[in-house]
Parts: sequence; C-alpha cells; structure tokens
Amino acid sequence: MIVCVCHRISEREIARHARAGLSFDEIQLELGVATQCGCCEQTARAVVAQCGASNPVAALHNTLDAPGAHATALH
Ligand code: FES
Repeated sequence: MIVCVCHRISEREIARHARAGLSFDEIQLELGVATQCGCCEQTARAVVAQCGASNPVAALHNTLDAPGAHATALH
C-alpha cells in the first residue's frame, strides 16, 4: 500500500527502514516521507511505531524463551 502519495513511498518500504532501526525522523530524511503535503505523516508514524518499537522487545522475548537461554541463565 502506498502511504506517501507525493513521493510514492510504500508501507513496506517504511516498515523495512523501521525494522532496520531507523526512527521516524531518520526515515523522513532518507525517503522524504511526509515532507510535502504532510497528509501521510500520521500513517507513516504508525507504521514506524508498529515495526520499529515492538520488534526489539519481541526479539528479546524470543531470545529469553529459547531453550538454551534458560539453561545459561541458571548456571
Ligand atoms: S502524501 Fe506524503 S507528503 Fe504528501
């Protein structure tokens, strides 16, 4: 889905940058999202919040839930 019509930037592209650890400001600088009419800013920020903020926590939980992680923690 195209999020930013002015610059033809897709949700997938924004999500990819967010998962790489970039903040909204950095993505805005890199892609130009929400730098023209601004209509897409709220949606773009939501995509970044969903893909950027939640993933490191999920990754941490996955690491702690790994069988080897508990054995290591107990020793
Ligand atoms: S739709 Fe993104 S700046 Fe206009």
